[in-house]
Amino acid sequence: MKRLLLGSLMLAVSLGLPAQKTTTITLHADQGGQTIPKEIYGQFAEHLGSCIYGGLWVGEDSPIPNIKGYRTDVFNALKDLQVPVMRWPGGCFADEYHWRDGIGPRKERPKMVNNNWGGTIEDNSFGTHEFLNLCEMLGCEPYISGNVGSGTVEELAKWVEYMTSEGDSPMARLRRQNGRDKAWKVKYLGIGNESWGCGGSMRPEYYSDLYRRYSTYCRNYDGNALYKIASGASDYDYNWTRVLMERAGGMMNGLSLHYYTVTGWTGSKGSATKFNDEDYYWTLGKCREIEDVLKKHIAIMDSKDPQKRVALILDEWGTWWDSEPGTIPGHLYQQNTLRDAFVASLSLDIFHKYTERLKMANIAQVVNVLQSMILTNGDKMVLTPTYYVFKMYKVHQNATFLPLQLQCDTIDVRDNRRLPLVSATASKDKEGKIHISLSNTDLKDRQTVTIRLQGTNAGKVKGEILTADKISDYNTFEQPDKVKLADFDGAKIKNGVMTVKLPAKSIVTLELQ
Ligand code: AHR
Repeated sequence: MKRLLLGSLMLAVSLGLPAQKTTTITLHADQGGQTIPKEIYGQFAEHLGSCIYGGLWVGEDSPIPNIKGYRTDVFNALKDLQVPVMRWPGGCFADEYHWRDGIGPRKERPKMVNNNWGGTIEDNSFGTHEFLNLCEMLGCEPYISGNVGSGTVEELAKWVEYMTSEGDSPMARLRRQNGRDKAWKVKYLGIGNESWGCGGSMRPEYYSDLYRRYSTYCRNYDGNALYKIASGASDYDYNWTRVLMERAGGMMNGLSLHYYTVTGWTGSKGSATKFNDEDYYWTLGKCREIEDVLKKHIAIMDSKDPQKRVALILDEWGTWWDSEPGTIPGHLYQQNTLRDAFVASLSLDIFHKYTERLKMANIAQVVNVLQSMILTNGDKMVLTPTYYVFKMYKVHQNATFLPLQLQCDTIDVRDNRRLPLVSATASKDKEGKIHISLSNTDLKDRQTVTIRLQGTNAGKVKGEILTADKISDYNTFEQPDKVKLADFDGAKIKNGVMTVKLPAKSIVTLELQ
């Protein structure tokens, strides 16, 4: 048998055909217990480039079809994604945003310069009402990012009152004057963003004190319970996490973290669409390094907060490439290929493992910015390969995480990283349905994945697949369906063992019945 396999492998190699590799998985469908919080599938919308204007919002008078000013096509696509939480208004923008500029009659709202993002003039036509109403319509939790860098304690305290106070308070009255009688429910409140950088260039010791001060005055009004999130570290800055946990941990519900799959912060970040195989594997190695980064931040949090009271909130993550040629510098508009889809699937597979501490993740960003779900141009819209991963993976939202053991080949990639060629995650939903997601990152070889199913009698399986001819394939306004989901029938169950024929460079989600 061995000789036969070796013979066919040699024949495949000599004919230049893709070889077949094998992966084994043991799935423990009767174990687990930790719920994968739906907030792991969170989004982020910043006043940056055309994320808000032209992306989410076109205004009621636009010739682009819209529902109360929100683009209909984008709204429907997001509704279908079951977005659980949306962070707004930034990012760096948040620490220069003054919320009072974004309320009242739109024509009377003052304009400002968006200093962080290309010096664009911001007309404030999308403000608090427009954002919170969008969240209500989408059925998602709003996550407000407050201004600490250039704002005041009073300003942030009054914003909370404006949004959430039901009573006869001055800010609730102002809200009513502006057409909204009932207070909104706002759970998540970020106290500053990247306070070590664009949010005020602070030291962690100084920011810890500011956090304590600002958060003191952000009150819970009329049954609205704020979940306060401190501005956290970037990537490998473990000292920030340590100092924040020591000095302010007792006053926070969450501490944030930002991690981008990026080549570096100076010089070119590389093209989103033009890359070679080595660049591709490097990208996946860098993306997977987030597991090590999460573990280290979590270890610090565990040592300071063994009860796991404070959550880790990864409120910015994803790929960051050079902006598309011909687009406005500083608007961070990038294309999105099947490579980005792998960054999404591999990252989500990792996040599922750490949800005892990691309670939310917000990919950057929802429309037209960085690793977006959706790209728009005028009245046209395309869904990106990353969108399709989020769509395929939505079955894992609020499902019970199921442990699995995976054995597969690994390869060494640039910067001394090692990449397992297959990634997998599994969960059981409220109805008892088991879902397994598998990514074969190998560019050339297909995988035969043998999954020993323990603790389930499932006998049938159906699935969906995301793949493309080339790893650099992407959707354009002219060819919007180049990379999209298709039905997958390459999995069979026999005698408690599922065999999956996983094509090269493919992402699959299976449902066991
Ligand atoms: O997502 C783009 C920017 O990246 C955000 O505004 C900032 O927080 C981060 O540096």
